[in-house]
Amino acid sequence: MNDFVYHSPTKFVFGRGYCDRIGAEAAALGLANVLVVYGQGSVVRTGTLARVLASLDEAGISYVEAGGARPNPEVTFVRETIALARTHKVDGILAVGGGSTIDAAKAVSFGVPYEGDVWDFFDKHLPIERCLPLAVVLTIPAAGSEGSGSCVISNDAQNRKLGVSGDVFRPRLAIMDPELTFTLPPYQTAAGVTDMIAHVCERYFSGVGAVPLTDSIACGIIRSLLDAAPKALAAADDYDARATIMWAGTLAHNDLAGCGRSLSPTARAGGWESHAIEHELSAHHPEVAHGAGLAVLMPAWMRYVWHADPQRFLDFARDVFDIEPVDEDVEPHDEAVSDAVTAAIDELQAFFAGMGMPTRLREFGITEDDLDPMLQTLQLNKGATFGAFMPLTMDDARAIYEQAL
Ligand code: NZQ
Ligand code: ZN
Repeated sequence: MNDFVYHSPTKFVFGRGYCDRIGAEAAALGLANVLVVYGQGSVVRTGTLARVLASLDEAGISYVEAGGARPNPEVTFVRETIALARTHKVDGILAVGGGSTIDAAKAVSFGVPYEGDVWDFFDKHLPIERCLPLAVVLTIPAAGSEGSGSCVISNDAQNRKLGVSGDVFRPRLAIMDPELTFTLPPYQTAAGVTDMIAHVCERYFSGVGAVPLTDSIACGIIRSLLDAAPKALAAADDYDARATIMWAGTLAHNDLAGCGRSLSPTARAGGWESHAIEHELSAHHPEVAHGAGLAVLMPAWMRYVWHADPQRFLDFARDVFDIEPVDEDVEPHDEAVSDAVTAAIDELQAFFAGMGMPTRLREFGITEDDLDPMLQTLQLNKGATFGAFMPLTMDDARAIYEQAL
């Protein structure tokens, strides 16, 4: 087990009807005048926003609203919302929504005390040291942003989607009420589950060998999702399935599933190769849901790289899908290993497809002609080679995209 720093300062308040606790919990944080950030209207339609505002009123917290964060949130919205937060001199930010809303709110939280343009943090890699406190009411379990030290923002003018990391802007509070997720469309439920599994896999295939305690947490999260997702898709109001998915999304990405698996104590475990190649897809094609992009690209990445450490994939095959380990004396050995690994990747991809996720890039309308622009920004963002499980060149990335077409 490698050395690590595990910093998860968020207070998670989890349960039925807990949406209505936001006012009291935000007041306990010392908030008195907040900016309420939300997305493109789901929280209005479901009544969640009205409940949140009523709870704030009851707690005596004043607020100003900033709706409109789009999926794959864009920096223009962030800039406008920073201006609004300054005008109203808010003392905290409250995000009501999913990863897109929370990431927009995170960027606002560290953009307000910064005098320059917030995009500087993304393309100039400035350290993020100050921010307004951030609270969250989560409405879609997926990105894990409610507990993560990541924030991902798109810049359409530059065709870029960039992430920043930092512990300072992790949410101080996350209200997690699984009943709020009953209204999720099946596609969004499935994309969210796919993203969670990818967050675990990026850490599991981090280029570091087995760390049994962390690996069993990781595989336990995935197995719980394999069990719960079909139930939530069959019955949208299956509380236990929804609750399992919601908490799994947090555990998949608050770094618990990576402890001891990173090369440096303060770095996140893993090379995040699938995320790197997916972020180019949703940067150039913002209509692609991040999880749906991963459903196509992560299996393609796995098929391309497993040879770099077959044992790691055999462990995954055994611990997630109960695929028998390959005995040393089985002949031809390489073929047996290849069959076992391929069976595991096939099962994973079939699980994604069974939830309604795409299996090929062409299902998004992507063709060979779309690859060059994605590879250009990939190189700009990641350099000539990237990755930890197996270093990838731009030719490797092209081959992965091509195999996924
Ligand atoms: O915008 P509204 O109208 O609210 O609708 C949303 C959106 O269309 C809808 N929705 C949310 N809650 C709902 C609901 N519809 C009905 N009922 C509800 N209860 O769902 C759609 C997707 O929402 P979004 O927030 O975009 O989903 P997600 O949580 O998957 O976030 C995706 C974003 O997070 C980034 C992704 O790249 C993408 O930009 N990520 C952020 C990470 C982080 N900060 O740690 C890590 C991830 O790897 C990821 O990159
Ligand atoms: Zn993700």
